[in-house]
Amino acid sequence: MKFFWIFIQIISILNLIHCQTKCLDTFTVTCYCPNENHLINCIENQPTDDMFIDWSRFTFELRDHYSFNFINFTHLTSSTFTNFSWKFPQLNIIELNFLNGIDEIREHIFRLFDYTVNPQIYVRFTSPRNFQLADNAFTPMKYSEIIIDDIQSSPYEFNLNAFHNTTVNQFSILNTKQLQFLSSESLILNWEEISINNGSIINLNLLMESLSSDYLVKLDFSSSSIVHFPSFVNLSQLMIIDLHDNLIHEIHSSLFSNKNLVSAIDLSSNAIKRIDPNAFVQLDFLTVLNLNNNQLRTLGDENQSFLFPLKGKLRALDLANNFLHDINQIGNLSHLEVLQLSGNEIKELNESSFRNLRHLQYLDLSFNQIQSIHSSVFDHTNIKQLDLSSNLISSLQTNSFLFSLSSTLDTLLLKNSRNLLEINWFVFTKLDQLRKIDLSGVNKTDKMWLYNSNDNSSFYWNREYSLEILLNNIQFTNEDYCLSKLIFQMFNNTILFLDPNHSCNCFLFLLRNRISAQNYPICLSNQSIIDDLAKECANIDSYCSSLSTTTTTNIMTTTVKRKDDNENWKIILAIAIPLSIILILLFLIAFFLVKRRRNNETKENVEIKGGIVNILSKK
Ligand SMILES: *[C@@H]1O[C@H](CO)[C@@H](O)[C@H](O)[C@H]1NC(C)=O
Ligand SMILES: *[C@@H]1O[C@H](CO)[C@@H](O)[C@H](O)[C@H]1NC(C)=O
Ligand SMILES: *[C@@H]1O[C@H](CO)[C@@H](O)[C@H](O)[C@H]1NC(C)=O
Ligand SMILES: *[C@@H]1O[C@H](CO)[C@@H](O)[C@H](O)[C@H]1NC(C)=O
Ligand SMILES: *[C@@H]1O[C@H](CO)[C@@H](O)[C@H](O)[C@H]1NC(C)=O
Ligand SMILES: *[C@@H]1O[C@H](CO)[C@@H](O)[C@H](O)[C@H]1NC(C)=O
Ligand SMILES: *[C@@H]1O[C@H](CO)[C@@H](O)[C@H](O)[C@H]1NC(C)=O
Ligand SMILES: *[C@@H]1O[C@H](CO)[C@@H](O)[C@H](O)[C@H]1NC(C)=O
Ligand SMILES: *[C@@H]1O[C@H](CO)[C@@H](O)[C@H](O)[C@H]1NC(C)=O
Ligand SMILES: *[C@@H]1O[C@H](CO)[C@@H](O)[C@H](O)[C@H]1NC(C)=O
Ligand SMILES: *[C@@H]1O[C@H](CO)[C@@H](O)[C@H](O)[C@H]1NC(C)=O
Ligand SMILES: *[C@@H]1O[C@H](CO)[C@@H](O)[C@H](O)[C@H]1NC(C)=O
Repeated sequence: MKFFWIFIQIISILNLIHCQTKCLDTFTVTCYCPNENHLINCIENQPTDDMFIDWSRFTFELRDHYSFNFINFTHLTSSTFTNFSWKFPQLNIIELNFLNGIDEIREHIFRLFDYTVNPQIYVRFTSPRNFQLADNAFTPMKYSEIIIDDIQSSPYEFNLNAFHNTTVNQFSILNTKQLQFLSSESLILNWEEISINNGSIINLNLLMESLSSDYLVKLDFSSSSIVHFPSFVNLSQLMIIDLHDNLIHEIHSSLFSNKNLVSAIDLSSNAIKRIDPNAFVQLDFLTVLNLNNNQLRTLGDENQSFLFPLKGKLRALDLANNFLHDINQIGNLSHLEVLQLSGNEIKELNESSFRNLRHLQYLDLSFNQIQSIHSSVFDHTNIKQLDLSSNLISSLQTNSFLFSLSSTLDTLLLKNSRNLLEINWFVFTKLDQLRKIDLSGVNKTDKMWLYNSNDNSSFYWNREYSLEILLNNIQFTNEDYCLSKLIFQMFNNTILFLDPNHSCNCFLFLLRNRISAQNYPICLSNQSIIDDLAKECANIDSYCSSLSTTTTTNIMTTTVKRKDDNENWKIILAIAIPLSIILILLFLIAFFLVKRRRNNETKENVEIKGGIVNILSKK
């Protein structure tokens, strides 16, 4: 096998050499053109002072898309692209990648570009060296993307004047420590999206002041060691702010103004302890707020909270991994659809905790210390997916908080509920939309298979779809078969998920037709074990009746009620759209709106490339 790969590699290297022809060979540069793809590799032979390259000497077939790799170029001047647009008049897409080496870029490197139809220009600098930028180096072009990755010199003084009067869809500076900006007063940077990631920005405010407020739509300064939340007051087009993974510890008021149209803010993974009650008061369009992984202990009090101004606006809120125990301030966020509260210190859910959350569909309360849940806490919500995993809930009672979700709940997660000693399956019969229950890792007791109904009606799972029951990380025994037999008669259309290494016994064998094909138990793939189990389990019923069952299992056998379920497709859709897709949709809508608005205003088709980021998906 190894030899085979070496052989393949030799072939491909030979191929590469064979297929590459020299398509430009001058004193300063040699370019190689492969026959098959768009990629042209140019290597600097000899640095010269003006770095003159006459592209009219380029000899290769002309296409509408070329990607140039300039390897080890040290400096670029206004002569570097001499005759380029004359030689490549047809290019729709020009990709210019500068790998290693760049020390200096002089004025107007694209001065000689003369395209009547604007091609999309993508410029990428990877590991440039000193990267000294002259004023107006990139002026006054329009770029689809400029990426500057891993500047070698540090601390680096970034001359923003090099980009005076440029229009850029996406501008990124990546992996550069200690970034200090230089700029002058009259600077115009028409940039739509700016990302500065994995570095540290010394004078963020200077950059903020230089960005044209008529253009900036999205700003991503994640992982940039930012301590102070910058001011956004004048950025009237800004929609998306991503500041995750920084060092912000406080959010003051007056960072925004009523000019702002911001719809999504990601502040996850900071050190935020305090948010001024008026911090977001001006943001009339804020729909997504992510505060995951911060140090919030409180959301305010009954009189003031930063959440109050967001009432009727916010649709997704992530407060996971903070230190919250009181969440009553959330109750009035009437448009909230997605709420993340996992990893906090919530101990109880009060009657009024979610009092006005009429649109709430996804609620994650996992990894808290919830012991008690008021039976009417969810009365006004329409939750579809409820995650109560890893809490301290001790039983599912007949008077259950779940009943108010009977017409909406489709997924109930109770994973690792170590204190859940009593499960009354009658509760699940009341959930008309239920499709999935996760009981993995619960502390199995003989009260796991209870059925206590509070009326005499009987139950059969007559729905067209089956109920998924996740029971991973639990070992069941023959006794469990006896205890669960009546439960599984009622829930007779189920798919069970068990550990693939679950030990072999009659529970496994007699329920084998219901076990999910993915992760099918290993021991049931062995025919001789199956034959043995078939013999052993033939007499299971007498074994069961010999057991003294301590639990009372009420089964009423009356006629089975039929329910016509024509609207199943809706439920399927609802299930198939997980939280992240909803968020992506929200973002897309936000983007669509802003694009349409801008297009109407400027009658200009601006391409926003890869601009949608699902800011709540990170954990
Ligand atoms: C580019 O420069 C590096 C180091 O200076 C060298 O190792 C590499 O071989 C050069 N690449 C080419 C294609 O000449
Ligand atoms: C290429 O550039 C040189 C120097 O600018 C110029 O003299 C020449 O006319 C150009 N050739 C063509 C074909 O445009
Ligand atoms: C900016 O560049 C455009 C051409 O793209 C030019 O028409 C305009 O005059 C320039 N504006 C300034 C202030 O330099
Ligand atoms: C961050 O940037 C440094 C260089 O400044 C690089 O070594 C490191 O790999 C980068 N980290 C990530 C996660 O990209
Ligand atoms: C916002 O713009 C006004 C005038 O247009 C200016 O006085 C003010 O300093 C700007 N604020 C910031 C934070 O840039
Ligand atoms: C809220 O306001 C009311 C009336 O002004 C006051 O009586 C109460 O003490 C305040 N509560 C808190 C927690 O400040
Ligand atoms: C429930 O109410 C009590 C008393 O009003 C309060 O102390 C507690 O923090 C509330 N719990 C939650 C989760 O809001
Ligand atoms: C929340 O709504 C209730 C009524 O629905 C109202 O009494 C209460 O004052 C509201 N609280 C805030 C902070 O808006
Ligand atoms: C499981 O429940 C029993 C009581 O039935 C308790 O003694 C035991 O500590 C529980 N196990 C865990 C891991 O919580
Ligand atoms: C259930 O049935 C029993 C006996 O069949 C009867 O005594 C009881 O009243 C019934 N309960 C209800 C709620 O119908
Ligand atoms: C479940 O049981 C009912 C009543 O006995 C029966 O009508 C139905 O076909 C069964 N469904 C499955 C999937 O076995
Ligand atoms: C099954 O595998 C899991 C890890 O995948 C392990 O933790 C568990 O102990 C195993 N159970 C048995 C019965 O071997």
